[in-house]
Amino acid sequence: MSEVKQIFKPNREFAANARIKNMCEYQALQDWAIEDYEGFWGSYAKEKITWAEPFTNVLDESSAPFVKWFDGGKLNVSVQCVDRHLETRKNKAAIIFEGDRGDVQAITYLDLFKNVNRFANLLKEDFGVTKGDRVVIYMPMIPETAYAMLACARIGAIHSIVFGGFSAEALRDRIEDAEAKVVITADGSFRKTKPYMLKPVVDVALEGETPVEKVLVVERNNEDVAWKSGRDYSYNELIKDKSSQCEAEIMDAEDPLFLLYTSGSTGKPKGVQHNSAGYILWAQMTMEWVFDVKENDTYWCTADVGWITGHTYIVYGPLAMGATTVMFEGVITFPDAGRPWAMVENHRINQFYTAPTAIRVLHKMGEDAPAKYDLSSLKVLGTVGEPIDPPAWKWYYEEVGNSNCAIVDTYWQTETGGHVVSPLPGATPIKPGCATLPLPGIMAEILDPATGEVSEVGETGYMCITKPWPAQIRGVWGDEERYVKSYFGDVKKDDKAVYFTGDGARYDEDGYITITGRTDDVINVSGHRMGTAEVEAAIKKHANVAEVAVVGKPHELKGEGIFAYIVLKSDDGVADEVEEVKAINGIIKKEIGNIALCDDIVFAPGLPKTRSGKIMRRILRTIAKGEKITQDISTLEDPTVVAKLEEMVNG
Ligand code: PRX
Repeated sequence: MSEVKQIFKPNREFAANARIKNMCEYQALQDWAIEDYEGFWGSYAKEKITWAEPFTNVLDESSAPFVKWFDGGKLNVSVQCVDRHLETRKNKAAIIFEGDRGDVQAITYLDLFKNVNRFANLLKEDFGVTKGDRVVIYMPMIPETAYAMLACARIGAIHSIVFGGFSAEALRDRIEDAEAKVVITADGSFRKTKPYMLKPVVDVALEGETPVEKVLVVERNNEDVAWKSGRDYSYNELIKDKSSQCEAEIMDAEDPLFLLYTSGSTGKPKGVQHNSAGYILWAQMTMEWVFDVKENDTYWCTADVGWITGHTYIVYGPLAMGATTVMFEGVITFPDAGRPWAMVENHRINQFYTAPTAIRVLHKMGEDAPAKYDLSSLKVLGTVGEPIDPPAWKWYYEEVGNSNCAIVDTYWQTETGGHVVSPLPGATPIKPGCATLPLPGIMAEILDPATGEVSEVGETGYMCITKPWPAQIRGVWGDEERYVKSYFGDVKKDDKAVYFTGDGARYDEDGYITITGRTDDVINVSGHRMGTAEVEAAIKKHANVAEVAVVGKPHELKGEGIFAYIVLKSDDGVADEVEEVKAINGIIKKEIGNIALCDDIVFAPGLPKTRSGKIMRRILRTIAKGEKITQDISTLEDPTVVAKLEEMVNG
């Protein structure tokens, strides 16, 4: 099935000054990569990275899918992001911080250098953190979070940021899996002007046995928090006497930079590992190409630093290229839906990057809000994390961008480290809801999983990347087998296992790529990845739950919502549904966090299963969507359950 979509050409004036100015330039770069893959990447690595020692080999695939990029090269990512800018950008704002309550702070590259160095000295001297140690960061959106990340990078420690919305249990699991010795947190921050606490969550996560020896607490909101002597230390106190000079540890190109846990198709999140040189190279290159940030521009990504978007496109990418990055502590709809537009006006923001969920919410809450502000500074608008629907796209393009800005619908994942399929704002004609084309150097192809052939136009196939790329995931922490099985088990091209993203996609007649969504049991709630198995594992902790199946369901604002079918143990039905739902949501909140709360819970008489006991989730998804069942159900163990569920859910 082919589809006709409206096409919007890049703004000519913008294109004339863009780094990649037209499709010929795009194609020339991609052709170069196709013809001389190592030459392409080697040349960019040489040009972009400040090496302490040059690399001797571009790509080593001899142990694929375990690959090495830029072997022999030595560098430090904090030098790439901070030190190397001091000569020309010492007094330029590296970070513009806007607090929840409107407090603004500009941090220059020189300030950043000093703060990162002090932080690094603190971790080294007071906590004995050394190269290879894991440090968990459970922080709000404040500048100290960026200092903490770069301080870890400076001394060679591996950070693992846990999103501040995760519960104590989720935090505990991630701390234990990474065997972290230090946790960096804050007393809390401000959300909608109220204190939002983090330290008490850390206290619960560390109860009982824990690998954590020390906790560093940044005092941000100065609320009273419990203090465990000998374990908890105040950043604000310890930092006072630290020197602002800390020698950067010289790291191998393939030394790990960070872990970031993400959901997969089992109940246990995966510690996605990214290494130094390849990751930072692609973070920087995509910042330059996809957002086309210029020297005097101000760029804002609204993500939380606890997700990959915050890592690559708030901290590492912008700072590696020497940009000014805005960091926002608060909630973008507070005090009203004009908040982001007021920030664009006040800071003269040139590139704005957010998730479709945020766009939908801002649209719904304040359709006319953008018109009340001066948004003329905007040049590029980005989206990430989930497909963007045409009405949201149209509003973003017309009302926010004044039909004058490129929309870059960036497709990528925690595992890809940076964008892989995206328009280039000065070159690519765009179509609403379409991520368009692979970026130069990325061999992204939609393949038919059965044959390994490239999918036909209009056919949904598997979104794959057929050659390693520098910012590729290097492993699942502590589980080599899971890395191979999760990403290189499903699709083979020319008899070689290739990276499969887990997403379906299709080409249109122009070769443009539209992402159709996950093919596995991962759902995408407000642009956040959620494993249905993870939610199921949490729900199963309720003593009265016999069986549970969780599926995604389209949701007007969140993209997908969470729909749970639960079979209770007691035969007498549900005594009090409201209480039972409350109890189940309470468990989810405790085990994972508010982000995993169910939108719908149905107490089912049974689940549709094959005779071998496999739950037929496809049927459950169809019912949740309110659609008619068309698949054959005669092979089910108990086909009558389907009609009962249909009746319960859709009347
Ligand atoms: O399903 C795809 C969806 O988000 C998943 C990756 O989630 P995560 O690792 O949490 O990273 C989110 C931020 C990069 C993908 O497998 N996704 C991401 N970007 C898009 C998207 N779906 C459609 N269009 C996109 N632009």
